Amino acid sequence: MSAPSPSAGRGGFQSRIGFILAAAGSAIGLGNIWRFPYTAGENGGGAFIALYLLCVLALGVPVMLAELAMGRATRKNPVGAYTKLGGRPWAAAGGLGVVTGFGILAFYSVVAGWTLGYLWHAVTGTFARAMDAEASTALFAGLISDPVWAIVLAGAFLGLTMVVVRAGVGGGIEMASKILMPIFFVLLVALAIRSVTLPGAGKGLAFIFEADFSKIRAPVVAAAMGQAMFSLSLGMGAMITYGSYFPRDENLVVAGVSVAFFDTLIALLGGFLVFPALFAAGMEPTAGPGLVFVVMPTIFDNLPMGQLFAVAFYALLAIAALTSTISLLEVVVSYFVDERGWSRSFAVYVVGGACFLLAVPSALSQGGAPALTDFLGTGKGWLDWQSILFGTYSLVAGALLTCILVGWRWGTDAAREAIEEGGHRLPAAPLWGSLVRYVCPLAVVGILIYVVTTGASF
Ligand code: PFF
Repeated sequence: MSAPSPSAGRGGFQSRIGFILAAAGSAIGLGNIWRFPYTAGENGGGAFIALYLLCVLALGVPVMLAELAMGRATRKNPVGAYTKLGGRPWAAAGGLGVVTGFGILAFYSVVAGWTLGYLWHAVTGTFARAMDAEASTALFAGLISDPVWAIVLAGAFLGLTMVVVRAGVGGGIEMASKILMPIFFVLLVALAIRSVTLPGAGKGLAFIFEADFSKIRAPVVAAAMGQAMFSLSLGMGAMITYGSYFPRDENLVVAGVSVAFFDTLIALLGGFLVFPALFAAGMEPTAGPGLVFVVMPTIFDNLPMGQLFAVAFYALLAIAALTSTISLLEVVVSYFVDERGWSRSFAVYVVGGACFLLAVPSALSQGGAPALTDFLGTGKGWLDWQSILFGTYSLVAGALLTCILVGWRWGTDAAREAIEEGGHRLPAAPLWGSLVRYVCPLAVVGILIYVVTTGASF
């Protein structure tokens, strides 16, 4: 294994596999098991999933390589990386990433808090008895609409994240990812197999595989693009930051493509886990953010050692969320450490504390405070809005800026050299160049203009 490239004591990943697991830890999270199924459910199922896969291939993978190259070439946080490659005005693009990371963390930690609440229920045996759709819905509503619990759980999750980030990127995250990610995968496969073999699961499979392309309109395309960016942790500089810790002589293409591959596999498995169980229990796929939490408890009591499965499932979901929140906080913290000269601890306390304040309205928006539940009469809650603005549109805009910087300012030739550093060839380099220069920017601009000018509803 090669040594990390030292760079002003910033630290680094110890090996390619360590990097892949940490970056996969960032990518694989609630986005795969929680957000992907409900977003697919709200946007028509199979057609959305097909579109999503296209977005991962045509937009996700090229942007992933671009972000990693930006990070490794500059060894800097997003603001530093954009500025170094593009000049002073580009600092704003990195700044958008930092703000977006902060905005995502503020709602993500609320949902991550729910996983802790469900872990508690699993440990205390709530799912050991049979749970139908109604009982499960009531349990979920009870948990998330309790203002004290919602805030305490989000705070606890942010606290956990702060502890890890304060300790630095080092061996801890790498080690934990190496042990936990494989276990997570095995459990997910086992649960998905149970789900697809439930009586009545066929409708769920049909929902995944039957692609009704007439349902695809501009907001659905934007949602698919945003979900691809969100799930792959792109568009806000997380991969720039992680790329800045990536060894110089390692193969960046293999690493980036592996992360995208595993992330997509896990999202699809998330779909195979949720939709068959959902239809088997007679529920609606359009239930929104509560989907996974409501569906999963209906299958645990159908399993041998169901309680153990339930505990393991929510523990691992919480851990998957934690490896993602770490990367979100790391982006913001690395900015204050690199660019503002703050100490890591101080940055963690200030950013974590401020994020908690922004998490409060999200935590209260799930029934705890009616004004936030139906925010400004939009029919959507504060949490949903935060997810749409930061978790979809900001990320898509961020991906666009990355493409413009790498494709037109830094230049694809120079970027390609950075990707190939260490003597590892970028296959289909001209295709990658065209995707970054033309296809991705045009697709993103086209969709953004369409959504804005038609005022298409979300
Ligand atoms: N990719 C994470 C998930 O799918 O849950 C969420 C996320 C983490 C988004 C880090 C963006 C990011 F920078």
